[in-house]
Amino acid sequence: MKIGVLTSGGDAPGMNAAIRAAVRQADALGHEAWGIYRGYQGLLEGDLAPLPNRACANILQRGGTILQTARCPQFHDPAQRAIAAGHLKRAGIEALVVIGGDGSFRAAEVFQREQGVACAGIPGTIDNDLSGTERTLGFDTALNTAVEAIDRIRDTASSHGRLFLIEVMGRSSGMLAVHTAVACGAEAVLYPESPEDSYENLVSQLNANWLRGKRSSIVVVAEGDTVGRAVAVGERLKRDHDLDLRVVVLGHIQRGGSPTATDRIWGSRWGAEAVRRLDKGERGFYLGEVAGALVAQPLSRVLEAQPVPPGELGRLISVLAR
Ligand code: F6P
Repeated sequence: MKIGVLTSGGDAPGMNAAIRAAVRQADALGHEAWGIYRGYQGLLEGDLAPLPNRACANILQRGGTILQTARCPQFHDPAQRAIAAGHLKRAGIEALVVIGGDGSFRAAEVFQREQGVACAGIPGTIDNDLSGTERTLGFDTALNTAVEAIDRIRDTASSHGRLFLIEVMGRSSGMLAVHTAVACGAEAVLYPESPEDSYENLVSQLNANWLRGKRSSIVVVAEGDTVGRAVAVGERLKRDHDLDLRVVVLGHIQRGGSPTATDRIWGSRWGAEAVRRLDKGERGFYLGEVAGALVAQPLSRVLEAQPVPPGELGRLISVLAR
């Protein structure tokens, strides 16, 4: 069997580990792996080629994706999907391993239903916002990158007795923000899913900290639906309270860098498992981790509501920041 591998949506550290494992597991089972470049965009354009074992040498430790990636709104169009299926058919590719987030899985689900191509999903997004899995590739690396950056900011924040608002990524999801905030000992966190996420609440938390003698604070802000939210909150705080504060938007720094060992290991496990299941004739599933175990879910499950960061972690911040 020929098995295509593609990465789609925002790149995430650990994607290369998954590509490498899928390619090598395919080889071990007597299948031929093909690389599809630039995600669904490349699939539409027929940008595909055999992906031999040796092409995956020395990529385990590299961030980004050797297959490159794209966001591809044209794939919503059934006529475009039919063109994509034609490219696969001509190359003799019967199955696809799709590494990406919920948008990429939704596309895989409809593509399989409509065009009959067997699809397997591997969760790859720094947002960790997929239902049915407690982990996505890249989250652990992005979390550690954000924490390392904020540790540095902490030094200057405490030297100057300043307030810093630090924006982290997470499209409509506070998962990265909450975990980052706990791991770097932030004084407060703003994230869209929290009932306490309000300007007034933040001001009263900062006031309480000031009264306790804290002269510097770190507030982690999830970008949520509005990139630049930290800037807007900072402007308002300056206007209302005349504070000497600074804003840092960590941005795409969080998406790059060498994957952590954890992301490499899960990328390797999921890449190999996806191919093993395709080899057995399974289709229409995506892999995940629940309570430490590797699990598979039907692709349709991705349509369920996104996971919400644990409220208990969010509440811990106000206790630990005293
Ligand atoms: O989905 C991953 C992510 O990094 C989000 O956290 C962020 O909102 C978005 O991608 C940014 O996308 P882009 O790189 O296309 O601007």
